[in-house]
This record gives sequence, C-alpha cells and structure tokens, in this order.
Amino acid sequence: MSPETADESGTGGLATTVLGVHRLEDPEQQGEILALAHRLPGVQRVWMDGDALCVEHDPSLCSREGIIEALERRGIPLRLGAVLAAETGEPPPAVPGPTMSGPEELGEGDPADALTLIPYGVFVLSVGGQDSLNACTVSWLTQVSFEPPLLVLALDRTSYSHGTLVPGGTFAINFLDRGNISRANRLALPHRLRPRDLAGVPHNRSFRGTPILDEAIAFLECEVRATFEPGGDHTLFVGEVVAGGVRRESAMLTLRESGLKYR
Ligand SMILES: Cc1cc2nc3c(=O)[nH]c(=O)nc-3n(C[C@H](O)[C@H](O)[C@H](O)COP(=O)(O)O)c2cc1C
Repeated sequence: MSPETADESGTGGLATTVLGVHRLEDPEQQGEILALAHRLPGVQRVWMDGDALCVEHDPSLCSREGIIEALERRGIPLRLGAVLAAETGEPPPAVPGPTMSGPEELGEGDPADALTLIPYGVFVLSVGGQDSLNACTVSWLTQVSFEPPLLVLALDRTSYSHGTLVPGGTFAINFLDRGNISRANRLALPHRLRPRDLAGVPHNRSFRGTPILDEAIAFLECEVRATFEPGGDHTLFVGEVVAGGVRRESAMLTLRESGLKYR
C-alpha cells in the first residue's frame, strides 16, 4: 500500500495517508471512524484496508499530521508505529531486544547476597504430636492461595521438625513481637539441645492439639495438604489455614530488624 503519495490519477495533487488503527471488532465503530475522517477538511475518500485506515486528501488543506491530530483528539486508537511503516515503506524501527551481557556489564556480584534481600518475617513453627510437642524458628514462609487460604513453608530436610509434619497433621505459625528476639534465638537451637515438650515456653493447645504460644501476637493454624521436594535441601510443606487471628496489635519481628540470619 502506498503511503502519503501524490495521487497518480492526476485529480489535482491528492495524497493518501495510511494510518494503522488498533483492531476494531465492532463494525459500527469502524463506520464511525470512517465518517469522522471523511468530515475532515480536504478529505476526498476514506476506506479501511485490514487494520489500516486510508485517507485520500488534499495536502494543502489538511496535512498528514493534521489528520493524526484530529483523529487522536477524538480518541481514535492509532498505531503510530504502523503509520511510520506505511509511510516510509520500511518496517517499523526495531525495538531493541534482549542482548547478552557479561557479568561485569550488569554489575553482577554474588546471587547469595541478593537472596538475603528478600524480606521475611521471623516466626515460631509449633507442632503437637501424639505425645510430644516441638517448636522452632522459621522464616521461609509465604501465602500461596486465597481460596482456600494456603501457605508454603520450607523446612530443612535434616531438621527434627521436618519429621513432625505429616500429611493431614497440623502445625501453627506463631508471629513474634518485634522485641522478642530472644525467643527466636532460643528456638533456633536444634531440638536435642532444648528442654523437651516446650517446657518453659508458655502455650495452650487448640482442640486439634496444635500448640499455640501465649506470647504470639498472631497465629495461623494449618493442616498439611501437600509436600513438595523441589530437589534442594528443603521440603515445601503446603498448609491450609484452618484457624488463626491477630491477638494483639503490635509490630511483628522481621528478619532484617532482628539481626538474625538464616543461611
Ligand atoms: C531467623 C531464622 C530463620 C530460620 N528459618 C528456617 C526456615 O524457614 N526453615 C528451616 O528449616 N529452618 C529455619 N531456621 C533454622 C531452624 O530454626 C533450626 O534449624 C532449628 O534448630 C530447627 O529446630 P528442630 O531441631 O526442632 O527442627 C531458621 C533459623 C533462624 C535463626
């Protein structure tokens, strides 16, 4: 299709401007655009050619820019890349694609450092077995569904806690108060180095048997719905939230603020 070219039929120096318009599903809307373009001063003929709006006009009365401006003012969705293509007869300027850069150019460092920037909370995972109780500090936790409400917790495959989470079993996520770093510290010790059965950690058990820490400012009680082995050193436990709530309006402990690390 020829872009803004002099009319070769010799009808007095007419030009044809070809404009790309976004695909119009509604034929009524297409008719409106044609009528609108036709009313512009100096326009002789208008027609659609696929997605292109073709306007034959007298350039001394109405320029290509004037047509574009008038149509845009009336909210016609023009594709200006397509206008350029039609008018120059060349493909639209290429949008620069992704290029391969060396690590130096991207300013890369150690990916492990970037991983430590992911924001986490510091929580206590508590589990009530048939005849034992356990709790430990965890951070790698996130919500993964609204309906039903699901969360995922990553647990070290070699930890004692890993063996306490069983399909259909329950666990709780206890949110600690911002000032409660000492609890997070103590419960990061391995099970064998801590007093048994949460001795010294005030708690109550839900009717499902899950221990909930008295000092938790909020908690989520969950049932284990699925486990995944993504191939690393942690197992992903998917828990459906079956109970919980906020007990005290207070800022929760976060990994960054606590100064603790999980590496
Ligand atoms: C701030 C912090 C966050 C932690 N987050 C996790 C975690 O998300 N997953 C995990 O498996 N261990 C995590 N740990 C390590 C456990 O708390 C630690 O291995 C603990 O000894 C496990 O207890 P257990 O022997 O009762 O299983 C974290 C430790 C700290 C200090």
